[in-house]
Amino acid sequence: MPVLTTQVKTKKSVHKEDCESQQHDRNTIAKVQLQSVTKTYTNGTHALLNANLEVKKGEFLFITGPSGSGKSTLLKLLYGQELATQGEVIVDECNVADLRGDRLSLLRRRIGIVFQDYKLITQRTVAENVTFVLQAQGYTRKEIQRRLEPTLKLVGLLSKADCFPDQLSGGEQQRVSIARAIVGTPPLLLADEPTGNLDPDNSWQVIQILQKLNSFGATVIVTTHDEQLVRRCNHPVVQVRNGQLSRK
Ligand SMILES: Nc1ncnc2c1ncn2[C@@H]1O[C@H](COP(=O)(O)OP(=O)(O)O)[C@@H](O)[C@H]1O
Ligand SMILES: [Mg+2]
Repeated sequence: MPVLTTQVKTKKSVHKEDCESQQHDRNTIAKVQLQSVTKTYTNGTHALLNANLEVKKGEFLFITGPSGSGKSTLLKLLYGQELATQGEVIVDECNVADLRGDRLSLLRRRIGIVFQDYKLITQRTVAENVTFVLQAQGYTRKEIQRRLEPTLKLVGLLSKADCFPDQLSGGEQQRVSIARAIVGTPPLLLADEPTGNLDPDNSWQVIQILQKLNSFGATVIVTTHDEQLVRRCNHPVVQVRNGQLSRK
């Protein structure tokens, strides 16, 4: 179960050396943790207020809450798109605020991200959308081919490999974006309202794929405001309201 740490008793600093340790298993993310995290945007909006959260390796966690409550901000802090104003954001053994350049890129390679609006490249085929990032990361053509087929199979899109995004339904486009997020086998998958634009059947398909990845060992964190979907699954839920987290 994910633990909502209500209070951080002894503030244990995470040392930079830990992040650089070569001994880390790159195939797992040991933990995801927020320690007394406040995020205030430059215009003064408090998106998160003294938030504490611990998600352990291999967990599947839903984060729910109304629009504007801070769900996307929480995920952005985890992959370093935003920095906490106060407190520590720890992914694996790393304090995300300490990471810059290559070290931040290396962490991000180990995090798959799925967005509500898919963010596919319209002029590229399904296969190209999925393998694009691997190419940029210098994977060999052979390794890319080795990964592509099982990934498309997992999301049920093997027969659509040569289609362009505008030839696909919304549900299929979202499954392409999941394939793109997981083709590098990241140990942590963050999905920000992945079912926000989908009907109930397609939403359920997406959740089932995420559950399957979780069963293979990935830690999965999904934000949603779809209470019905959350109820249908038996996963722990953390609610965000006005930037504050509580366990449901
Ligand atoms: N870049 C930004 N600059 C200023 N305020 C922002 C920014 N991003 C989000 N916010 C504000 O922070 C709060 C939380 O936003 P967000 O994390 O996107 O919520 P959610 O994903 O739950 O809808 C909202 O009040 C939103 O308007
Ligand atoms: Mg959001």
